[in-house]
Amino acid sequence: MSYIRSAALEETGYVVLDSYDQSKDPKEWLDLEYVAWKSSGDTRFAPLASAAGEMECNGFWNHTPPRTDKDGVWVPANVVKAPILKARAEEPGANIGRCRVIELQPNSYATALYNLHQDDNNRLNPDGTGWIVRGFFNLSDDKDSFLILREDRFDPETEVRIALPAGAQLIVDTQRFWHAVWQKGPEPRYCLITSYESGPELDAYIAAKHGSPHAATAPLDPAFVQEAQADVRRRLAERAATLAAQGRGAWVDDED
Ligand SMILES: [Fe+2]
Repeated sequence: MSYIRSAALEETGYVVLDSYDQSKDPKEWLDLEYVAWKSSGDTRFAPLASAAGEMECNGFWNHTPPRTDKDGVWVPANVVKAPILKARAEEPGANIGRCRVIELQPNSYATALYNLHQDDNNRLNPDGTGWIVRGFFNLSDDKDSFLILREDRFDPETEVRIALPAGAQLIVDTQRFWHAVWQKGPEPRYCLITSYESGPELDAYIAAKHGSPHAATAPLDPAFVQEAQADVRRRLAERAATLAAQGRGAWVDDED
């Protein structure tokens, strides 16, 4: 047995969908209730679907009984304020796990590289069922900001930088990629992030939205990239030294 995966994601691990006309919608994300949840960077999350419909963001495997990132329960206090976001999350028709709006404060390229991580979407996911991937629907207009994807965490040659204007829509295998967002600001970034189960419903949605596995990667000065890479290595070494001094082992990042 093995997981059911989307053929559309096989080549590069992501697809860019047709852009959504964000300008016609109210900014529902500004009305939501956000909870503190340490992720990669200075973030807060507004849960739309959680393990039990509570206003919290914990992985479903940390609940009783532990389960994988499927069958999320809508959070009444937030979905009542965001019917359009809920409808957009439901449009693919695939099983939904966690669904939330992320708020990310501005950062630097080097900090984004420092924040690169792989998600843990498929923990406890039963073999033979659909591989869990993530939908990223950008809500704020961050056309100069980038989702950074790397196959190899420390190899800039593997980096893809996908711009995030309002209405940008992506499906990404975030367990395959090292990823983070470089949010240039000055405003925070808001994005609807949804865990979807791969399968015929998601495949049909990707096809209908003309999913492309090749985004135009934004150019960046190689010297700037190398400087940031050196900064990240220094910061990671410092963190490792701090953890060692505290008698702690590996540092475990959280998802998103
Ligand atoms: Fe992530």
